[in-house]
Amino acid sequence: MTEQHFIPKAHSNAVESGKVTWESPSNIALVKYWGKKKDQIPENPSISFTLNNCKTITTLGFSKKASTSNFEFEIFLDGEKKDDFKPKIQIFFERVEVYLPFLKEYKFRIETENTFPHSSGIASSASGMSALALCLMSLKKMLNPEMPNDYFYQKASFLARLGSGSACRSIEGDLIVWGHSKAIEGSSDLFGLKYPYKVHENFKAYQDTILLVDKGEKQVSSTVGHNLMHNHPYAKNRFQQAHNHLEKLKPILELGDLDAFIALIESEALTLHAMMMTSNPYFILMKPNTLEIINKIWKFRQETGLHISFTLDAGANVHVLYPKNEASQILEFIKNELVVYCQNGHYICDQIGMGAKKID
Ligand code: DP6
Repeated sequence: MTEQHFIPKAHSNAVESGKVTWESPSNIALVKYWGKKKDQIPENPSISFTLNNCKTITTLGFSKKASTSNFEFEIFLDGEKKDDFKPKIQIFFERVEVYLPFLKEYKFRIETENTFPHSSGIASSASGMSALALCLMSLKKMLNPEMPNDYFYQKASFLARLGSGSACRSIEGDLIVWGHSKAIEGSSDLFGLKYPYKVHENFKAYQDTILLVDKGEKQVSSTVGHNLMHNHPYAKNRFQQAHNHLEKLKPILELGDLDAFIALIESEALTLHAMMMTSNPYFILMKPNTLEIINKIWKFRQETGLHISFTLDAGANVHVLYPKNEASQILEFIKNELVVYCQNGHYICDQIGMGAKKID
């Protein structure tokens, strides 16, 4: 399949004005996307857990306008006008216009809010861009009511990717693969795919407690970080490793092998940060408390045999991952021993979720 698949024919309905709301979750990668070509074509495949509680709720208001020479839109975050978000949305609209040719025919009002605190160090680009892509697809569906559901979700993921790569993994749940892998039938660089194979009970309702170690702005954005993978001395091996990891994950997920799962995802998290530390220029996003937490997790795991593990995204926060049936003991440990390393003691309890929802 190529991009051509998402270029539409003329629409059949006339729609004057209206409003649509979607809520869309964040996601946490197990095999990481780090390194991309133009338009968020990933250098390697990735797989993520869709989250349940960390989400963005976006309402898109639209009304027909007379002139079709420009994009016209306003953005509000928690009811406050946010002109500093405009350049990002402008670029997004420019990128997706060929797939949504009606964009210049409407004036848009984008109202958005997150269920997680704005300055929590949790990236809102995945949930935010996927929510916006879904709202735009709902308008598209009003214009073309005969559009099949499968196409709706696949194209929403395709558009979300053009806003932010990882956003294409936030449309559905509970495990999403993005990027072509020979091990996963139907996987594509263009959109996320619901993981199509058997997943053991052990991974159902898997828990993710997010420890907010540093809530400040990151010193290096993901986009800059991705670009530093060009000419990176270890890039080729890293991309190959991600392919291998995804292949190895298949039997792990099927058999419910928690020990192998932990070894694989922790290696992924540390490799991601190792790539940052060996970029040119190099940088470090972990903080001393990130390492304190990792060491405590390892010690507790060794002492108790419980299946507590961690992963990291492009920041200092730690995602503590564990199976549901061990939740009470592990949460107790988190509260007693790890929360002291969080900024102002803040953490968020989340778990695997089933994807975005339209709000009526
Ligand atoms: C470390 O999707 O935020 O979280 O495509 O430039 O918007 P852009 O980057 P983004 O990168 C996410 C990187 C990551 C790993 C992952 O989610 O796979």
